[in-house]
Amino acid sequence: MYKKFYNRLPEAFIITDREQRVVSLNRKAQELLSKDLEDVQGMRIGELIEAPLLHALLDETLVYNRPPKLTYENSIIALKRKGNKRYFKISLAPTLSVNGEPELVHISLVDVTVLKEIEQMKTDFFASASHEFRTPLTSILMGVGMMKAGQLGELTERGREILEAIESDCERLLGIADNLLEISRMETGRIAMEMEDTNVYRMIKATLRTLKLQAEKRKISLYTKLPPDLPLIRSDINKIIWVLTNLVGNALRYTPEGGSITVKVIRKGTMLYFSVKDTGSGIAPENHAKIFKKFIQLEDDDSPGGAGLGLTICKEIVEAHGGKIWVKSGKEKGTTFTFTIPVGHS
Ligand SMILES: Nc1ncnc2c1ncn2[C@@H]1O[C@H](COP(=O)(O)OP(=O)(O)OP(=O)(O)O)[C@@H](O)[C@H]1O
Ligand SMILES: [Mg+2]
Repeated sequence: MYKKFYNRLPEAFIITDREQRVVSLNRKAQELLSKDLEDVQGMRIGELIEAPLLHALLDETLVYNRPPKLTYENSIIALKRKGNKRYFKISLAPTLSVNGEPELVHISLVDVTVLKEIEQMKTDFFASASHEFRTPLTSILMGVGMMKAGQLGELTERGREILEAIESDCERLLGIADNLLEISRMETGRIAMEMEDTNVYRMIKATLRTLKLQAEKRKISLYTKLPPDLPLIRSDINKIIWVLTNLVGNALRYTPEGGSITVKVIRKGTMLYFSVKDTGSGIAPENHAKIFKKFIQLEDDDSPGGAGLGLTICKEIVEAHGGKIWVKSGKEKGTTFTFTIPVGHS
């Protein structure tokens, strides 16, 4: 009866014993592997399917006697089928014997190739749309620059105000286009890191050079707290400057006049902890995880921000360096973003 049931299921099912040898396959799995049950019975799953992730999860299931903890990202494997690459979402569950030992492991494979293709189309669309936006925006900015410089005739006071508004909106759009391009590059694994030994003092100085002016304009004090003996870090300096700029940029946006922002670096063991602390409006705890996701801007936030991509990119960059990023904040309590970067070897 079970066999019939398994054969009717739309997903592929493989059952192995505790030695990871194939006990049974349903019809869909036979199609997927282009093999009959008789051909593969008793074969180790490793000889049948080449997917290190599947083997690691199978080991984990057998060692801990429970289904492995899976997220969408870490449960997708790619398999070649009739010359084409297809993607499968896998899940595993052990069946325990009377003495609580895992006896069999049920592995299911759901074909998610269509989802992967849609994801890819979306990423490609972002990449080409943002690329297409850049050229006209850049020429608008050039035109505005020429007008502001008086190259096309005298400007009235009102004319200058309007041009300045156009310029800042264009710059904002350009920033969004750049972020979209960056995100799509990261999603396709095309984030090229140029790692070098980095002097943290120089890096912070370069970051704050442009932000100081903005802080002065907004009447916000900008402090740095750097101990005198910070080691070099191994990093892509421009990318870390980008992270710090986005964090301080956010802090500037959410801190009222008269407030302060402190950029601090400390060393703990093999990590440097970079933090950006503000005295602004704060972020409610239930939103802490959310803000690192794509296109998230909080509902009660009516400031003219970007597209809600900054923190997503920060997270990708920090993780690509082997670090972590998190936030500590409460509503009306100010906010501290902290990220870690490993200390360099030299
Ligand atoms: N220091 C902060 N204080 C209060 N809220 C913040 C702070 N930093 C971030 N946020 C909240 O998190 C959201 C996401 O920030 P993120 O940097 O990802 O996007 P953004 O700044 O709105 O746009 P982008 O960075 O793409 O230009 C912000 O829109 C804001 O609601
Ligand atoms: Mg931002």
